[in-house]
Amino acid sequence: MTSIEKLKFLKEDQVRTLAKEFGTPLFVYSEKEIEQKCDDTLAFPNAFGLQVRYAMKANPNSNILQIMKKKGILIDASSEHEVVRALHFGFSPESIMLTSQEFPKAFVELIGKGVKFNACSLRQLELFGQHFPGKSVSIRFNPGLGSGHTKKTDVGGVTSSFGIWHEKLEEVKAIVNKYNLVVEKVHTHIGSGSDPEVWKAVAKYTLEYAESFPSVTVVSLGGGYKVGRMEDEKSTNLQTIGAPVKIQFEEFAKKHGRKLILEIEPGTYLIALCGALLTTVDDKVDTGKHGFQFLKLDTGMDSNTRPSLYGARHPLITVKKDGGIPSSHKEYVVVGHCCESGDVFTQKEGGEPITRLMGEAEIGDYVVMEAIGAYCSSMSTKNYNSFPETAEVLLRKNGETKLIRKKEPVMEIFRNEILVVE
Ligand code: LLP
Repeated sequence: MTSIEKLKFLKEDQVRTLAKEFGTPLFVYSEKEIEQKCDDTLAFPNAFGLQVRYAMKANPNSNILQIMKKKGILIDASSEHEVVRALHFGFSPESIMLTSQEFPKAFVELIGKGVKFNACSLRQLELFGQHFPGKSVSIRFNPGLGSGHTKKTDVGGVTSSFGIWHEKLEEVKAIVNKYNLVVEKVHTHIGSGSDPEVWKAVAKYTLEYAESFPSVTVVSLGGGYKVGRMEDEKSTNLQTIGAPVKIQFEEFAKKHGRKLILEIEPGTYLIALCGALLTTVDDKVDTGKHGFQFLKLDTGMDSNTRPSLYGARHPLITVKKDGGIPSSHKEYVVVGHCCESGDVFTQKEGGEPITRLMGEAEIGDYVVMEAIGAYCSSMSTKNYNSFPETAEVLLRKNGETKLIRKKEPVMEIFRNEILVVE
């Protein structure tokens, strides 16, 4: 039997207070928890130095970026627009690396400023060479194997378009030589929620790519470190997976006389467990004796699309609106407020609803969705059904609670539309 989930960093009274003060739905983040994750990540085992980049796609709120910056964490940006955002909020161009599927339209301007570029295809490398001959560049390889919490988050192997296929090393070298480029870094990222064994194997391959380019000083092993959101899911222990890789770097140094710096770029690990989504039960319906009991929340895939996209599970905890604890436990299918049958928070990948054992909830009670710090606010189907962007608050270290994003005014959802039909 799956265990009943618990609140992670909030207390029940706090949930009630926050919900009353700010309304629901509401994203709540903890500065203390984020700083703790930064410290864990900065302690990643390494032989000759470590650089940590935050995969800002996980959650790019400016306050979260600021916390990372104060900890000395650099930026992994995945579009030119993320670069603009990071620059706007005070990151230096040199502290940002762009690893992008799409070649940036403002390439010359951004890279000219000093933003680091990670070439993800032969075309990208060629264009880099044409515009910036003789300059330093990083190269992303597809090492031939990948691993993710689902196939949808696996970005290695023959089914993946991410990075330069590892057998194309000679073509890479030809472009590098043609433009006198300095390959300062080799990079791999094989997926999110990766199997640690596959990640370790890929670390070895990545060091082999570094062997091919004597100018390489940094080896980036990407992100993807598993985070157990539910009680029955295991998180990757960074110390455990990092230790053997540290030895690989030491052996590389003995053999080649080069002390390489390790780079990692977690998103999920840094922020997933540092956020909770406060919601209210809006309705309860059932489909009879042979059917299900449904809880309808006042949020949906417009705040967290991970369950409908991946069948991802997030803890769901009932908090009674007037205090006290739920009198019993019940099996519910928990659904969102979007007019979309796939807007179900408890579902298998593919869409079949499954029940979740939770504290019995009445209309008006709160349901806290946990572990929503990563890829929820940033990756939702926001504005579907014209639901406004959900507000966000930060619990400061000093105990203060601060609004860090207002609930979007509905009139702003369609601010860019131009009415031409009379
Ligand atoms: N580096 C690169 C080049 C990436 O593409 C990503 C994620 C990361 C680092 C960070 O990966 P993380 O440590 O967060 O697993 N939306 C999915 C994950 C896909 C993210 C895509 N790239 C999810 O909700 O689990």
